[in-house]
Amino acid sequence: MTNVPSSSDTLDVRGFLGSSLELPCGAVLRNRIAKAAMSDSLGNGEGDPTEAQARLYERWAEGGAAISIIGEVQGDPKYPEKPGNLVFGPQSDKRAIQELVTRGTAKGTHLWPQLGHAGALSHLPLSDPKGPSPLDMPGLQCAGMSIEEVKELPSLYAEAALFAKEVGFTGVLVHAGHGFLLNQFLSPLFNHRDDAYGGSVEARSKIVLAILEEVRRAVGASFPIGIKINSTDKLEGGLTEDDALEFVRLLDTSSVDLIDISGGTYFPGAKASSEGTSSGGPYFMDFARRAREVTKVPLMLTGGFARRDQAVEALSSGVIDVVSLARAMVLNPSLAADWLTDEGGDPAYPKFDSPPKGGVTAWYSMRLTALGEDNEQAFTMDPAMALRDYEERDARRDILWMAKFS
Ligand SMILES: Cc1cc2nc3c(=O)[nH]c(=O)nc-3n(C[C@H](O)[C@H](O)[C@H](O)COP(=O)(O)O)c2cc1C
Repeated sequence: MTNVPSSSDTLDVRGFLGSSLELPCGAVLRNRIAKAAMSDSLGNGEGDPTEAQARLYERWAEGGAAISIIGEVQGDPKYPEKPGNLVFGPQSDKRAIQELVTRGTAKGTHLWPQLGHAGALSHLPLSDPKGPSPLDMPGLQCAGMSIEEVKELPSLYAEAALFAKEVGFTGVLVHAGHGFLLNQFLSPLFNHRDDAYGGSVEARSKIVLAILEEVRRAVGASFPIGIKINSTDKLEGGLTEDDALEFVRLLDTSSVDLIDISGGTYFPGAKASSEGTSSGGPYFMDFARRAREVTKVPLMLTGGFARRDQAVEALSSGVIDVVSLARAMVLNPSLAADWLTDEGGDPAYPKFDSPPKGGVTAWYSMRLTALGEDNEQAFTMDPAMALRDYEERDARRDILWMAKFS
């Protein structure tokens, strides 16, 4: 299943990065380099794609990525992460989505939507946030889901996955990381339920496993299903590495094709992986090493890859099967193709002096817009300007979203 050359051949850069990978469902990735899930903020505010979004995914496809993942695609417009998210449902503009798929799958690239639900962290002006349990803490209030609402989740995800398959996407990634709904179920910080969905790691995992089962039933045996997980919430009282490892053990008994290992949480006062301003190498490699021992499911690692030698080293260790990059792919959308040449070439990270909170992620988001408009040469924003433009655009989209979905 894994076609990685032997680890003695560590100089064979193209061998490690360029070899194909057959997933358990039979689908084949053309190489080992993925464009990580990013919420690109390029939906039109009504849950449909824009021309800039289609162009952005076309650039990553032409740029050689094996998989490109659209962050935060919602099956339910009531709990979005942002008003630039896509929404899959009967109201969707299928023609625009198919155009996005056609362009984003150029050259055999896999294009997967990340199926999201922000739960307690749903975007406030658009949402009455609901998580596994009611919470009332500074900067975070939400209601708790009823048992009926929890039991509806598997069919919600399955319908979105089936929609994705029918419009031509080549797989889906279920989002169970970064503090959003399924991570909230897994995390004892958010999940205080005393029914079958709270308590032990098994109980906290129950809804996620039920979702994966229902998604599999909907899309059939040969369609790739991945899951993005937190190796740790990096929060006191949150999901620990030991719990996360137990969850991986449980995933091993599911029909999932790819486990995307990440970490960190969007939570008041917490630091998210996307806010990093430097990289000392892959963030969650130690956890991946432990995960490798408890599952045979292919592992993808996201977070902190900035140089080709780091990617080659991680793959050559045999611990992970796919290297996934977010910020590096924003800096160079052709990074995969470049890394598969003899010369290589690593992205030059910008240096920001005391950026405002949220400013780094906003800077990368606004650069995504510039890429989608083929205009990155003229992109000169600093994080504070980016944050202002990003928030103003979201405020305009909030109005469109509410008009469409309320
Ligand atoms: C602009 C931006 C948007 C992001 N949106 C998402 C998202 O929607 N879903 C997700 O799982 N991760 C999201 N991330 C996190 C990345 O997938 C990744 O975990 C993080 O940036 C660390 O990887 P890196 O070091 O390669 O950037 C986002 C990151 C950035 C920079």
